[in-house]
Amino acid sequence: MKVLNFGSLNIDYVYSLDHFVQKGETISSDRLNIFSGGKGLNQSIAMGRAGISTWHAGAIGPDGQFLLDLLEASGVNTEFVRRLEETRTGNAIIQKDKNGDNCIILYGGANQSITRKQVEETISHFGPGDCIVLQNEINEMPYIMEQAHKQGMTIVLNPSPMDGKIFEMPLSYVDYFILNEIEAGQILGRPGAKAGEGEELAAQLAEKFPGAKIVLTLGGEGSVYTDSSRLYRQSIYRTKTVDTTAAGDTFTGYFIAGILTGCSVEDSMDLAARAASITVSGEGAAPSIPDMKTVKERVFEEKE
Ligand code: RIB
Repeated sequence: MKVLNFGSLNIDYVYSLDHFVQKGETISSDRLNIFSGGKGLNQSIAMGRAGISTWHAGAIGPDGQFLLDLLEASGVNTEFVRRLEETRTGNAIIQKDKNGDNCIILYGGANQSITRKQVEETISHFGPGDCIVLQNEINEMPYIMEQAHKQGMTIVLNPSPMDGKIFEMPLSYVDYFILNEIEAGQILGRPGAKAGEGEELAAQLAEKFPGAKIVLTLGGEGSVYTDSSRLYRQSIYRTKTVDTTAAGDTFTGYFIAGILTGCSVEDSMDLAARAASITVSGEGAAPSIPDMKTVKERVFEEKE
């Protein structure tokens, strides 16, 4: 069994601020950090560091070689990443406030240069029993899902960041949705869904997509798993918040790693919650994602 993550690779420019900039305001940041990031890359790094055989597919420009070096150092195969000469690597402008929360502006760059030829060539190396992991930061998503479905791959979709392109995708092919409350509400046509409605949203998604398993992340409220027959709730492991960037990506990567290595849903959710908690306690996206040894050895206080 192999995992192919067809997804974004970003350079994250992280500006530390007291508060997020407001309309009409100019503020100075006293610290700029440049990190490896992108939801795709972060999830591949989480899976690689969790120890599962992971291939990353995507595209970078001439400025992105260090992203591939980091993926490879994390155990991820990068042979399906195209190196473009004239398009810069995707990037993210991230404001990080004093509470460790963030807001992000994305520039797609090479992430939006995926070709159908690349999709066909890449997916031809995978087949039934293999798994494809997808987010919403690259182009050609509907075509990728069509090709993966034809190859009999298990499809995991993290529909993030959420926008109208999600509705152009063949969502009925998805085997696992891993998403947050806001994304769930939008997919269900309930954009005003509020915190505290997690279980209801998860149940409604399971009804809308009866073939799919749903993992709904609820921030500080933990997460919920549901499928056609059961619902399971996972708490978070509380930690000092330094930077929440990539916590969701770590959760996604570790949940998939758990499931694909034969762990129960309960154990996979617990593993994912532990790993995400460690990510929250470190700075940056990819640099804060732990390896499996660190996750196993970390002693946490009681779950919330
Ligand atoms: O999920 C966090 C990621 O979102 C960042 O690394 C940034 O690149 C954006 O893609």
